Amino acid sequence: MSKTIIISNRLPIKVQRKEEGLAYETSEGGLATGLGSIYKEGDNVWIGWPGLSFEDEEEEKQVVQDLKQQSMHPVFLTESEIKEFYEGFSNETLWPSFHYFSQYTVYDDAYWAAYQHVNQKFCQAVMELAQPGDTIWVHDYQLLLLPAYIREAFPDSSIGFFQHIPFPSYEVFRMLPWREQILKGMLGADLIGFHTYDDARHFLSSVSRIAGMNTAQGLIDNGHRQIMVDAFPMGIDYTKYAQLAGSPEMKEKLIPYHEVLHDQKVILSIDRLDYSKGIPARLQAFELLLQEYPEFREKVTLFMLVVPSRDQVEKYKELKETIDELVGRINSSYRTITWNPIQYFYRSFPIEELSALYTVADIALITPMRDGMNLVCKEFIASKLDQKGVLILSEMAGASKELSEAIIINPNDLGQMVQAMREAMIMPEEEQQTRMQHMQEVLKRYDIHQWVSIFMNRLEYIKLKQLSLATE
Ligand code: G6P
Repeated sequence: MSKTIIISNRLPIKVQRKEEGLAYETSEGGLATGLGSIYKEGDNVWIGWPGLSFEDEEEEKQVVQDLKQQSMHPVFLTESEIKEFYEGFSNETLWPSFHYFSQYTVYDDAYWAAYQHVNQKFCQAVMELAQPGDTIWVHDYQLLLLPAYIREAFPDSSIGFFQHIPFPSYEVFRMLPWREQILKGMLGADLIGFHTYDDARHFLSSVSRIAGMNTAQGLIDNGHRQIMVDAFPMGIDYTKYAQLAGSPEMKEKLIPYHEVLHDQKVILSIDRLDYSKGIPARLQAFELLLQEYPEFREKVTLFMLVVPSRDQVEKYKELKETIDELVGRINSSYRTITWNPIQYFYRSFPIEELSALYTVADIALITPMRDGMNLVCKEFIASKLDQKGVLILSEMAGASKELSEAIIINPNDLGQMVQAMREAMIMPEEEQQTRMQHMQEVLKRYDIHQWVSIFMNRLEYIKLKQLSLATE
C-alpha cells in the first residue's frame, strides 16, 4: 500500500534530555497539528530532526525506537551540522535573505557545503523508507535542495514542496550566489506551494529570469515535466482553539488575570524571538502611545510573550538584549505602584495558557516586518467566542491578505501603529463583533484540514496531468 512521507527540518515533537532520561514533548505548531491527521494514518511517516545532538549510538537507537511508535523517523545532526546547516545556511543565509533582511545575510561557502550535505542526509532517510507510488511532501526553506535529490533517486515519485516563509522578489533572491542551484532543487517537486500569490509570483519570476524556463499561468516547463506553482494560505485547527477557549477549565484559568488586571485593557503580543517579527518597533509604538495619550496610562497593559528561538545565532542574541533594554526602559519610566505597562515573558507557554491569553486579550498586536503567514493572529480570532476583540495586523504578514477586517498597519510607521492602538482601545463593541465575525467565517471555512486536503488533491491533479501529457 502506498503511503505519504512528510519531511521537515524539525519533527513535530521535541526531545529533551532530563535527569530520568529522554523525554518527548509534542510541538504545538500549526504544521504538527494539521498534519497530525495524516502522518499517523496507515504506514505514513514524518521524517525530521528531533532537535538535539546526541552523545552516543545507544541514545540515538533509543530515539529511533521511541519515535517509530509515533510514526516518526529521526535524522540526527552533528554539532557542526547544527552550526553550519541549521544556524548557518538556514538561519544566517536563507532566513534573513527571504525576509528582506539582506544586510544580515552571511555568504559562506562552508555553510553552503553543509546545507548540501544535510539535504543529502535527509534524502538518504527518504530512500530508506520510500517505496514506488508513495507521496512525498517536503516542507520549508531548510530543505530546498531535497526535492531534486529525491527526484534523482525516484524519478517517477509524486513530490510536493511547501514553503512556510516568504519567497523574496527576484532582485533580492538574485543576490544569493547559489540562486540557480536552489531553484533547481525546488524544481524537483511536482507541486510548489506558498502562502500567498505574491510569494508564488516572486518565485515564478526568479524561475523565468534565472533558470530561463517558461512559467506561463503558474505552470513551469522544465523540459521533462510540468511543475505547478500556487498559493495555499495555511489555516489553523479552528475547532481546537474555539473548544479550548470554551472549555470548563478556562473560567478558573482566567481568575488570576482578572485579579491583576481589574478593568484594564490588554494588548497581546506573541512571537518567537526573531528580528523579522518587528518587536522593538512594536515596543516603541507602545511607548509613544503612553507618551502621547496619558489618559491610557494605568488603563492598558501590554502582555508580551517572546518564545526563545535560535539563541546561538548572533543577530538573535543582539535582539534579545535590545528587547530587554526597551522593556526595562519603558517599564521604569511609566510604572506605578499598582501598574506595570509591560508584562514581559521570555519562555514558551503551554497551549492552555496561550488560550487563556487569547481569551483575556482585548487587542492582538501582530506587527511583523515580514512574515510568511502568522498563525498567532488566526489563533486569537478562533479563541474569541463572544466576538469581542480587535486585531491589529501588519500588511507584511501573509495573513493580512485573508484578514481584511483587521486594522492593517505598516510596521515601519510608528505613528500609524499608535493610531491603530488608539482606535482599537475605543472601538465600539458592535464594530468589533462585525469585524470579528467576518474573520471567523474565513478561518472556519479554510482551516488546516482543508489546507492539507487541497494541497494533496492538487498534487494528485498535476501528476495525472503529467501522465496524460506524456501519453499524448
Ligand atoms: C518558522 C519556520 C519553521 C521553523 C519554525 C521554528 O515557522 O517556517 O520551519 O521550524 O520557524 O524555528 P526553528 O528554527 O526552531 O525550527
